[in-house]
Amino acid sequence: MNKVIFTFLASLLLLVSVSCGNNSKSADGEIEVGITIYRYDDNFISFMRRNIETMLNGKVKFIMNDSENDQVKQNDQIDAAIQRNVDALAINLVDPASASFMINKIKPTGIPVIFFNKEPSKEDMLSYDKAWYVGTLSEESGNIQGELVVKAWTSNPNWDKNGDGVIQYVLLKGEAGHPDAEARTERIKAVLADNGINIEQLDEQTANWDILQAQNATDAWIEKFGNKIEFIFSNNDAMALGALKSIQKQGYNIGDAAKFIPIVGVDAIPEVIEEIKKGTVVGTVLQSPKDQAKAIVDMLLNVANEKDVLDGTEYKLDDVKAVRVPYRAITLENIEESAEAYK
Ligand code: BGC
Ligand code: CA
Repeated sequence: MNKVIFTFLASLLLLVSVSCGNNSKSADGEIEVGITIYRYDDNFISFMRRNIETMLNGKVKFIMNDSENDQVKQNDQIDAAIQRNVDALAINLVDPASASFMINKIKPTGIPVIFFNKEPSKEDMLSYDKAWYVGTLSEESGNIQGELVVKAWTSNPNWDKNGDGVIQYVLLKGEAGHPDAEARTERIKAVLADNGINIEQLDEQTANWDILQAQNATDAWIEKFGNKIEFIFSNNDAMALGALKSIQKQGYNIGDAAKFIPIVGVDAIPEVIEEIKKGTVVGTVLQSPKDQAKAIVDMLLNVANEKDVLDGTEYKLDDVKAVRVPYRAITLENIEESAEAYK
């Protein structure tokens, strides 16, 4: 083939691919989306992941990656997705603070991105017009958890084991710097104070949302404080389960009313629902993996198809372009309300 014709054909090809625009970017012309999950072995997140997969199956080509709690790994996965020229991305950041780095990488490509579960800062969200967020309002979970504790504590005077009118508590914190962990830790204390409940913190430990780390922290607390602990506040349910495992080994929460330490969590995962039914956990705060996955998938498919992000939906965006799924208090009284969200 002569060089002129070759060049002509090559530019024609380029022109054709450019004019096809975003709509058939991947090599085979199919719409493709990329999803990264901060770690597959996070209890709550595993429900989100399975929902997202089920909802995307058969609708669009997608590649989902486990970032294994490693931000460097996640950066590489995003690079690879950009290389494949995906039509849209959904990112559950490893480190919420790395959003600006991610956006700097993605923005020049024009690929739309839906962040979820780990909320980027307002500044980061507003730095890219094709970035959106799906999650919850972090403070809300702490407020609801606080109200739940106020109600339970005031209706169970015998929980004040030393009778001093003060809750001696320990707190299991999620990952430091995670907006949910920070807000839940702060709000529960604030709500108790606002309701005139006196509290005394025996200790607070970061257990990174993790059952085992929570179990270890609680082992140490039981050894140190024993039955002086009058409440365990946990930023999530996985850690609440770890705490329960730990105290049950020492004879707490297995039937002896004199050896009972109330525990509260957040998420309403099925295992904790079972414990609430048994009376070993007092309550939790439902965040729906199903509703969040639905919002992520609806928005992801919209932007991948170059439609308006909210096309055909009833979601509302707030001032940081976030869709927020509401939380709900769950105790024995309304236990069935959590079932749908985790089906
Ligand atoms: C959930 C935790 C989860 C974390 C992961 C939080 O919203 O309550 O259970 O480990 O997100 O980022
Ligand atoms: Ca007390």
